[in-house]
Amino acid sequence: MTNSTVAVHQLKGGMVGMGMIFDETYRPFFENAYQQGIYDARTGVLKLEIAAVASRTGGRASKYKISAGDQINDFASYVEPDSIGQLLKHDVDFVCIATPDDRHYEATMAAIEAGKHVIVEKPSVLSMQQLDSIIATARDKQVLCKVVYHKLFDPDHKKLRTLVADDVLQHINTGYCTLLEPKQISGAQFAEWIQGRNPGTYVAVHYIKLIDFTFGGKLKSVSCSGQRGIVGEADGNTWDSTQLRLIYEYESGREAAFDIHTSWVTPDNFPGYVEQEVQFRFDNGIWNGHSRKRGVECTVEEKTPVSIKNSMNNHYNGTFVEPDGRRTQRGYGIEVLEEFAREVAYVEHGTDNQSREQRIGDLSAGYYNDIASDRQTVAAVHAMEAILEQHAAGNPDCVVKVNESGNGLVMYIPGQADGIVLYENPV
Ligand SMILES: NC(=O)c1ccc[n+]([C@@H]2O[C@H](COP(=O)([O-])OP(=O)(O)OC[C@H]3O[C@@H](n4cnc5c(N)ncnc54)[C@H](O)[C@@H]3O)[C@@H](O)[C@H]2O)c1
Repeated sequence: MTNSTVAVHQLKGGMVGMGMIFDETYRPFFENAYQQGIYDARTGVLKLEIAAVASRTGGRASKYKISAGDQINDFASYVEPDSIGQLLKHDVDFVCIATPDDRHYEATMAAIEAGKHVIVEKPSVLSMQQLDSIIATARDKQVLCKVVYHKLFDPDHKKLRTLVADDVLQHINTGYCTLLEPKQISGAQFAEWIQGRNPGTYVAVHYIKLIDFTFGGKLKSVSCSGQRGIVGEADGNTWDSTQLRLIYEYESGREAAFDIHTSWVTPDNFPGYVEQEVQFRFDNGIWNGHSRKRGVECTVEEKTPVSIKNSMNNHYNGTFVEPDGRRTQRGYGIEVLEEFAREVAYVEHGTDNQSREQRIGDLSAGYYNDIASDRQTVAAVHAMEAILEQHAAGNPDCVVKVNESGNGLVMYIPGQADGIVLYENPV
């Protein structure tokens, strides 16, 4: 038997945004990797630290420091104005962006321009123009820019994609998806930034990506309706619920339609934390999925369904006592971040014969989580945002056509012959 040494590499991360998703996924990601490291055969063991964090007021960062204690290293905390600029002066290898969705672009661009690898929450950005400039800058600066879509890591969705890839489920025809968030999300959690926002961009995007990634095809058109009056004014621009419809065309020339219904005003006392249901219909089959019917139903007097939910998603993100007695927090919501850390480590410390540029190339163009793979998803979001804006301005029922008549995105308002070009280049 020979003794061999496993290389240990230290990576330093920056965190922009210290809100709900930080608590849910980034916190266990950083703490697990700080304490136990992450292993990758291409590099060795990776140890992670949070070097610095940026947020609006620093309130939650201070609370986190106290509650985490020695579970994480000490870190610098910066607040507005220019919290990100200050964070970027630190020696960080990568930056995680988890600000509200209409503030992703500035933070992502600033980090890339500073030469840092970036992972950004969904939806990456809200327009194709923003997406183009991020892709170009990331390529120019030779850094990774990745988007978090943990639903692609859900074992059920991986199985769906496998059955599609193996031609067991043949030719998608139609699909519907629904994702309902509780009122506490719109009423309390996001009260600070909800003005002018909608639940479609916030959560339908999970399913836009799932559909785009699983079934491929070319996005052809986008339409969207919505309701108001609970979170904001009945004639205002803040939306309670949205119904998005996407039409795709496949190589066969045949089409499929997908409806994605979302809301963030569902009663807080419903039994699942978020209600998620999908149905995909194929030429030869049907796939039905329901987050609350995955298997567990648990009732605890005086706890369910408020402080504990009757049905829990123990696959996404759960706290456990492991068989050996350790307390852990894990699931695919955290796994997706660990994969990014492995990618960064491979680029910077890989032991194969590839150059840094080749490694970036391999993990970029065509790679599932690369920002450039997000084109059709961002196109759908861009179209939805524009349609809802027109609706609030008194023009409901607009349709956006994709890659027709020489333009990438053109919005048609009912009763007006000429479309409005939202994006000129091909999507
Ligand atoms: N992957 C998922 O399932 C999932 C779930 C929830 C949220 N998200 C995404 O995460 C992002 C944040 O959502 P959240 O639920 O954590 O929101 P949140 O409102 O709880 O937290 C937002 C954080 O961003 C900070 N922030 C706001 N503006 C800033 C600025 N200009 N500079 C620096 N920091 C700023 C705030 O101080 C706060 O710490 C959103 O893009 C959302 O779509 C993803």
